Amino acid sequence: MQVESTFERARALKYPEQIVIAIARDPAGKYNPITLGWVTQTSHEPPMFAISIGNTRYSLGVIRAAKEFVLAWPSEHQKDETLFFGTKSGREVDKLAEAGTPTQPARAIDGVLLRDAVANLECRLVSELQTGDHVIFVGQVVAAHVNRRPLNRLYTVGENYQFEGLPRR
Ligand SMILES: Cc1cc2nc3c(=O)[nH]c(=O)nc-3n(C[C@H](O)[C@H](O)[C@H](O)COP(=O)(O)O)c2cc1C
Repeated sequence: MQVESTFERARALKYPEQIVIAIARDPAGKYNPITLGWVTQTSHEPPMFAISIGNTRYSLGVIRAAKEFVLAWPSEHQKDETLFFGTKSGREVDKLAEAGTPTQPARAIDGVLLRDAVANLECRLVSELQTGDHVIFVGQVVAAHVNRRPLNRLYTVGENYQFEGLPRR
């Protein structure tokens, strides 16, 4: 039986939530990562993903101008970087340099892959939609990469940035 609650109380029950890191090149040539929970695949053929970016994020203008981005699925070993990319802004810091995150060049777009992530998808921006205080960007996957090693993905398992790796089945 359901009992009515506040939205906040219901929302707290949504976890675990997947995490992705979107990376795009800013106008100065710096590759800027942003941690995201709001992401979903939206099409099989062609493969497409939607990400939701807050109006205040530096990444909003960066992705809009670059028209392409990488989506990386962080592994359970990338908790610190995931929090760093999700709490610092590319307006003030070069996040990849400061975190010392190893990268490798993307193949089909002007971008970088996170070398130690579980997988990386190269995406071209195909559309956007304003939804409240966030903008949904839809990207078409144009290249995909997986880690040679089997790794567990990182998830948010509770409020206040509680992260955990969850095993694949
Ligand atoms: C686990 C986690 C999930 C997040 N999910 C989102 C999200 O889906 N959309 C968003 O706009 N910001 C999200 N954020 C917040 C941004 O990552 C954060 O504001 C970041 O510092 C913005 O970086 P930028 O200014 O370089 O773009 C999330 C942060 C964390 C830690």
